[in-house]
Amino acid sequence: MRTQVGIIGAGPAGLMLSHLLHRQGIESVVLEAHTRQYVEQRVRAGVLEQNTTELLIETGVGARLQKEGLVHRGIELSFAGERHRIDFQDLIGRSITVYGQQEVIKDLIAARVTAGGQIYFEARGISLEGLDGPTPAIRFEADGERRELHCDFIAGCDGSHGISRASIPEGALQTFERIYPFAWLGILAEAPPASEEIIYTYHERGFALFSMRSPQITRLYLQCAPDEDIALWPDERIWQELHTRMGTRDGWRPSEGPILQKGVTGVRSLVTEPMQYGRLFLAGDSAHIVPPTGAKGMNLAIADVRVLAKGLAAFYASGSRKLLDEYSTTCLSRVWKVQRFSWWMTSMLHRCDTGDGFDHRRQLAELDYVTSSRAAAASLAENYVGLPMEGTTPRANTCEIVR
Ligand code: FAD
Ligand code: PHB
Repeated sequence: MRTQVGIIGAGPAGLMLSHLLHRQGIESVVLEAHTRQYVEQRVRAGVLEQNTTELLIETGVGARLQKEGLVHRGIELSFAGERHRIDFQDLIGRSITVYGQQEVIKDLIAARVTAGGQIYFEARGISLEGLDGPTPAIRFEADGERRELHCDFIAGCDGSHGISRASIPEGALQTFERIYPFAWLGILAEAPPASEEIIYTYHERGFALFSMRSPQITRLYLQCAPDEDIALWPDERIWQELHTRMGTRDGWRPSEGPILQKGVTGVRSLVTEPMQYGRLFLAGDSAHIVPPTGAKGMNLAIADVRVLAKGLAAFYASGSRKLLDEYSTTCLSRVWKVQRFSWWMTSMLHRCDTGDGFDHRRQLAELDYVTSSRAAAASLAENYVGLPMEGTTPRANTCEIVR
């Protein structure tokens, strides 16, 4: 088999890349280890930066997002029993959209399938060959047959546990990592969201996050131990802890409902440099992980493939490798800014006290500052809504585009 770009992984990075390439007349084949049903049901991120929303709409995969996505013009920060609003619209004239990652995945798969795109689900035993030569290849097994896919380029979009990064010879990459001493216990509950906006709570007992997926479904998270045993968290204990941490003096608390799903996710930062080796390009979680407190993981994955698609389009149009050679440098400049922002949000909102109360007081001062200084609030807003993509001018708000 032959194609122009072989893509490993049908997550947001791999599918969006395949979609963008198709729009430029470039052929690709996507290889995914799991079934279509599995990737379409996997509950993960839910916040789309305005950049991501605009890209989905502009490239023709935003119809359902425009109907079902919830436009948020701000977020709330809650501490010391009170909630404080950060008004994105007022501060920077932009907004975010809440729309589940699995919905983005469904829309992208539907678009690729309609356009006749090739996606092999349940592709097994993938190995990469000839990455530093002119004709790399991917060996894999699908439908009970061993296959070999010859490509001009390979995009490693296979997440943090994929084989792409691991296929690069030792010594060619440097990794920078920070593991935080806590994790997130997340639940999805069948309960109408008790607030219209996302609420980040700092509490003496630890961080808590209130979010949602639809007018019927609430998404909630609690800071927990990195090795937390989910079996020790029956539903009543989860609700009790959520109420203790999130309840504010005005009587607000999240509304309860049947818990549909629960799980524990680690919190870490990781950056791989460079994000390319020969004809292999890493994109999304295969190249970097951000702590979820900034809601950036999926957005960063989409930002990478936007740069990669542009580089590949330039190569096929003119033979120039300039943009491809600059891929890593271009992406890393954004990745480190996003990493900084996610680290900052994480350090401000999680309980990580050394015992002497220094951090606790510093965090309260930080929250007080961010919610009382317009300049500090605007900095949070600018990063949360998404820094401008290289070579683009930020536009007026998504509310107009979406509604
Ligand atoms: P992925 O979405 O991981 O996609 C990679 C794809 O490659 C997967 O479909 C995988 O099955 C496939 N794959 C892996 N190995 C192979 C292989 N060897 N061969 C073929 N295919 C392979 N971010 C937030 O902002 N907020 C959140 O609340 C949040 N929650 C998260 C919860 C979890 C459990 C996880 C893991 C991540 C979460 N994230 C969250 C991060 C966000 O979801 C990711 O940043 C985003 O999915 C990155 O997209 P990606 O396409 O790079 O990788
Ligand atoms: C979510 O809705 O899942 C969500 C929202 C904000 C975050 C992380 C996750 O920072």
